[in-house]
Parts: sequence; structure tokens; C-alpha cells
Amino acid sequence: MSIQDIFESMDYGPAPEAAGEALAWLVDRGDTFGHFINGSWTAPGKGFESRNPATGETLAMLSQASADDVDATVSAARKAQRKWTRLSGHERARYLYAIARLVQKYSRLFAVLETLDNGKPIRESRDIDIPLVARHFYYHAGMAQLMEAELPDAEPLGVCGQIIPWNFPLLMLSWKIAPAIAMGNTVVLKPAEYTSLTALLFAEICQEAGLPKGVVNVVTGDGAVGEMIVNHPDIDKIAFTGSTSVGRKIREATAGSGKALTLELGGKSPYIVFDDADIDSAIEGLVDAIWFNQGQVCCAGSRLLVQEGIADRFYAKLKTRMDGLRIGDPLDKCIDIGAIVDPIQLETITRLVDEHGGEGEVYHANSALPETGCFYRPTLITGLHTSAWLMQEEIFGPVLVGTTFRTPKEAVELANNTRYGLAATVWTENINLALDIAPKLAAGVVWVNATNLFDAAAGFGGVRESGFGREGGWEGLTAYTRPKTKTKTLAPISPFAEGKDLAPSDGLDRTAKLFIGGKQARPDGGYMQAIWTRQGGLLGHVGIANRKDVRNAVEAAHKASGWGKTTGHLRAQILYYIAENLSARAKEFADRIDAMTGKRSGNKEVEASISRLFTYAAWADKYDGQVHGVPIRGVALAMHEPVGVIGALCADETPLLGLISAMAPAMAMGNTSVLVASQPFPLASTDFYQVLETSDVPDGVVSILTGDHVELSKTLSDHLDVDAVWSFSSTDLSADIEKRSAGNLKRTWVNNGQARDWFSTDGEGREFLRQATDVKNVWIPYGE
Ligand code: NAI
Repeated sequence: MSIQDIFESMDYGPAPEAAGEALAWLVDRGDTFGHFINGSWTAPGKGFESRNPATGETLAMLSQASADDVDATVSAARKAQRKWTRLSGHERARYLYAIARLVQKYSRLFAVLETLDNGKPIRESRDIDIPLVARHFYYHAGMAQLMEAELPDAEPLGVCGQIIPWNFPLLMLSWKIAPAIAMGNTVVLKPAEYTSLTALLFAEICQEAGLPKGVVNVVTGDGAVGEMIVNHPDIDKIAFTGSTSVGRKIREATAGSGKALTLELGGKSPYIVFDDADIDSAIEGLVDAIWFNQGQVCCAGSRLLVQEGIADRFYAKLKTRMDGLRIGDPLDKCIDIGAIVDPIQLETITRLVDEHGGEGEVYHANSALPETGCFYRPTLITGLHTSAWLMQEEIFGPVLVGTTFRTPKEAVELANNTRYGLAATVWTENINLALDIAPKLAAGVVWVNATNLFDAAAGFGGVRESGFGREGGWEGLTAYTRPKTKTKTLAPISPFAEGKDLAPSDGLDRTAKLFIGGKQARPDGGYMQAIWTRQGGLLGHVGIANRKDVRNAVEAAHKASGWGKTTGHLRAQILYYIAENLSARAKEFADRIDAMTGKRSGNKEVEASISRLFTYAAWADKYDGQVHGVPIRGVALAMHEPVGVIGALCADETPLLGLISAMAPAMAMGNTSVLVASQPFPLASTDFYQVLETSDVPDGVVSILTGDHVELSKTLSDHLDVDAVWSFSSTDLSADIEKRSAGNLKRTWVNNGQARDWFSTDGEGREFLRQATDVKNVWIPYGE
């Protein structure tokens, strides 16, 4: 071939990376692996093959962990944690730094092994996955170093079970292990069954780094091993990345166990191209968004939304670009697209496109396919109805679906027309438009004029059915720490027994209604509950809310969503105003609390409630996001956004302070809420309606229901339009709330039957603010 031929065809390659060292590494270990438990290797047991998806060849035999293996691992991790947590942050930082250096030292071996095992192009494993792994350990070495000074009130959770998928095997390992061990936890990690090899190599470098035994443990096996980890009683936290269906099962399985949980699940992320975008850049971005890692990326930009005026031109250019993508041997540095991870995944992708593609027009790139191995052509499907299966569901392969929009408003509506909310991409040359759109998108990450940017300094994670919790950044550390507070059991609080005197002491009928959408409303069921004093005197009646009342309150809360767009300054003023109006009636409230609870704490509780309102008025315009220093020419803005509609079962023991302690942080951060008042002592809450009515609180921002905590928590937790449920009830509702929340994977914050001192700082502050916000990272590169 002459140079002129090369210029004409632009044909180049192949340029294969040598696999010799990685294969020799496998041979040295007899091509067979046991588990890495307590710093050493177990003898290989019964197991399964790990294959190279590009060739079908067997790479190694892996062991399927038994229940005994999992037990042994968890007890090793537990034992190790006691010592590991006692090391200084600096001592832990040194180990993380040593691991980072060793990842760099063995980076080529890691990259080749990853590509052999997973099928991803060597360019990606070498230039993206492995450098990001090293970066993650460097970054978190820093977090270990800073923990004592910067997070003095945080402590590790204990033993963390971590279950990861096959699409970024080593990268997901680093996202899980680095923050966990930096904060003083120990880990039991299970890699995905298709791709365990780099995790096993990583275990070896932990040995080389001299990491204390039992701090990092790796067990291999399929979903059954994952289940054993999830259900193990001596694990304090589960971190999972994988499919939404398994995430939902894990939510149900851990319900009520007290285990902390973070879920990073699937997505159907929109890729929005406005008509003023730099089209060529947007096309290159799209190649990265959907054909990076063969589209097997949870945050893949798999749903193209292109503005109508440029759609034809955009599709034409895109098809030409698709035809130029080279599919082939993942070890060849000249290819763009490697192998699908496993024949099963290839079969799934093929079936989904064959079954549903006919509802639109399917375009397969005109690229040559290797004769053997798991390969699938880049594919574009247009003309689908927005509700079509392929527009809604994750394909997890190199398949893009595309549709058009006319206006920015329509772009946002289409983008949000999904049950997921992981990532979104916006292309426009108009920064004002981009920054107007970004906050409106239901996503944990938004990339402006770029896509698939990741860094340890910027949190990653989703909303809705893409899961909850963040990995990376300061925000990611809360997933591996908890506040240092001593807890004690919260005993159920019962109302006082029914008295004899059925007439209220002053002869006036006092039947409090519910407070829904800014108005007092009769309970739908028409039933009432009498409230008695300790001595048996009748204080009044409250309505017993039912499912319909909950639904009305949630609807009102959604109608009031404009509250989330108001300024912190405005929200602060309203919170101050509520405090002022409460203060004007302090004595009346104090007397009421005393009468209900039979104690003399009313005065103190009203004063604490006023102070609490001031606390969140103060925070409303001060709980800022951050600008993360990511290693690009640009910034990642970590913006605090409201969670949405929060349902809260308020504390029974402090009827006014408990209600305000849930309401005020939710309001301050722009949420709307449906609050269920103290069950035994609800009257302070019902009196509080009048304070809200006179304090300029927009209708629907706060609704207050009275009634049975068990019943109302069910409806709130089942409700698909509720975004989070909190419970501070003295009835332990934790298990039921967490289990029911699996429906739409709403966030939950439950007390697990533990008391909180509402009068102290334990009853307010950053933990409440964090629970009332989602962090959205908006990446904005600079430059032309
Ligand atoms: P998966 O969710 O079943 O597997 C992920 C991990 O969970 C693996 O380590 C697996 O062994 C483990 N696992 C499976 N069942 C479990 C259980 N009941 N309890 C605990 N752990 C369990 O994903 P799979 O089957 O490999 O892929 C199926 C589909 O899931 C893909 O087609 C794709 O749509 C989606 N997926 C999404 C990922 C993401 O990052 N969002 C990653 C991997 C898959």
C-alpha cells in the first residue's frame, strides 16, 4: 500500500497491544483463582469460567463463594475494621497513596487484562478506566488525610458489602473501595461474574502495598453470592451498582435491617442538541455518549433529542460518522468499538432491537464485523413514539434512539419523560440556555457541550429509579460515614386513655381538620379521634386522614413545586415570618403542649421551635453547592436542588418541635412536604395551621395530616409521586417504609427505632439539609 493509497482510504492499523504479560500473569496463577480473604488466597473451589468476549477463549477459572466463604470474609473484615478505624487519617492516607502508585505502576497490565476480560477497546481501558482508578485512590488518600480536621463529626459505618457490575470492572471497584477505606471502613467486594480478573489483580496489589489484612476482601461468584452479602447480618452498608431490577431487590432485602444503602442503577439519559450547537462537536460527543464501551454505560447518552430545524442534517452526518466507526479486536489500538461483554448480553441487545425496532426506522452502521466474537454494529433508531419500549427502557448496548423537539420547553419535557434520572447532556453555544435547562433536567449529572466526563472530585449518581447516593466528591463521603451520635431506643408513645367527660371543658366543639393545599379540609373518611389529657379531660378531636387525603396532599405538593424555584432569600423570609407569628402565640402553644403531654416542657418546646425556624431561615440562603476542581479546563458545579415532595412521619414525643424540625429544612431547601403530625399529641400541629395561613406560605408547600402513622406511612411510601419519606415516629416503621419505597426507589430516612434529642443539635443541621437536597453536578468545559 502506497502513502497515497493510505491518504485516500485513511485506512490504518492494525496496531495490536501485546497480551503476553497479562496472559503470563494468568498462567503464573495456574489460570485458577480462589477468593481473597483476610489478606490471603483461599484454595480455588467449584466455580465458573471467565472468558474473553472477543474470542470466546477461556481466560481463567473462578470460584463461586459459598455461605461459609462469605461468613469468613465478613468476620475478617469486622476484625480488621476495629484496628483500621483506629489508625490516624494520615496512616490510612499512606496506604491509599501506595495503592494509587501501584495502580500506576501496573497500569498496562491492568488495562490489557481489563480489555481481555471485558472486551472494551484498549484505548479506553488504557486512557480512561485505569487513569481514573489511580485518580480515585489519590483523591481519597487526600480525604483520609483530611478526615479528622474536616469531618470531625463523622465516623465510619463499619463493614461495607460492595457489589459491582461488569461494564467498568476496576473503575467501579475503585469508586467503591477508595472512599470506604479512606473513611475507616473495611470492605467485602464482589465483582461481576463476567469480569472479576482485575479485581483479583487489585487484591494482589493490596498485598504489595502492605494493606493490613482484612481491610479489602474480594469474593467471586454470581448473583447468589451478591445476595449472601446483602443479607449478611454483620454488614453495615451495601453499595451496589447494576441493574434497576436488582437494585430494587436489594432495597427490599435490606429494608429494616439498619444497613446503609446506596444504589447506582440504570438510565436512559437524554442527549439534547439545540439548533445553535456546534454540530460536528455534538456528533463527536454523541459517538462518545453511546458508543463508548459499546454503549454498556449506565449514563450512556442513549436517547438523542435533536431540535427539529437541524434534525435531517444531524442524522445524515451521524450516519456517515457511524459508518466510519471501526469494530474489531479490542486490543487493536485502531478500533473504536470492541466486544459486547458476553454472548448473553449480545443476545439481549439483538432481541430487543429485533422485537421493538420495527416500531421505527433502524439504521445499522455499515461497518465490517469480525467473524467471531460478541460484536454488534452501532445502531440508530428513529421515528419511535416517545412512549415506545425502546425510548423508555435501557438497552445497554451500542443502540441509540433519536427523536426531535421544537422548543426548549419541549426538550425538557421529553428529556424528563422517563422513570430514570442519571445523566443528561446539553449541546448549545448559548450558555444562558444551557444553564437554564440544566436545573430543569431530572438527572444527577449534566454535561454541557461535553459528555461522559467523570472525576473523583465530582459526585456521580442519580435520582428517581436511577438510585440514590453519590460517589465521588465531598458529597460521596456521606455514603461511607455517619454522624457521631450516641443513640438510644425510642419507646412507643401511646395517647392518654379515654376519659369520662365527653364535653370539652369550655363547651365549644373543637374538631381540627386536616391542612391540605393551604386550606383546612375535612378528612375524606369522615372519622375523628378524640385527644385526652393525662387526667382524662377531653382536649378536642382531630381528623383521621386516609389514602385519599394523602393523595390530595401529594397532588397539592406537586402543584406547589414552584417553591423549589424561589430564592433562598425569599424562603428565609417566610421561615422567619412563621417564627415571628409562632412567637406571638407562644403561650397558647406552650399551654397546649403541656395539656397534651401532661408535662411542663411546653415553654421550652415553643422556644426551641422558634429557634429551629431561625436555624433553617439562616440556612435557606447559605447551604451552598460547590465548584469542584475537576482536571479539565472547566468546572463541575455541584448544585443543591430540592428532592421534591417529602413525606414525613413526625416525632410523637415533641409535637410542635418534631413537626417543625422536619418541615423547616424541607422548606428551606425548596421541597414541598406532606407532614403527618405526632399521633398521640396532634393538636399543636393543627393549631399551627393558623400560623402557616398567616405567614405567606404558598398553598401546598406544607400539608399536615393527622391520623394513624402505620396507615399513612404505607400510602406515602407506596406513592409513586413522593420523592422521599422520613420517619421519626415512635412506632418503628422503618422496615415497612424501606420495603415499600422500592416501588419508585424513593429516598428514605428512617429512625430504625432510635431516639433523637430534638432539643439539641442532634435535632437540626447538616444531616437534615443533606436529606432535603439532591446534588446535581453540572460540568461546563471552557474554551473554544
Ligand atoms: P446485574 O444487576 O444482575 O449485575 C450486577 C451485579 O449484581 C453483579 O455483580 C451480579 O452478580 C450482582 N447481582 C445479581 N443479582 C443479585 C442479587 N439478587 N443480589 C445481589 N447481587 C446481585 O446486571 P446483569 O445481569 O449483569 O445485566 C443485566 C442488565 O442490567 C444489563 O443489560 C443492563 O441493562 C443492566 N446493567 C446496568 C448497569 C449499570 O451500571 N447501570 C451495570 C450492569 C448491568
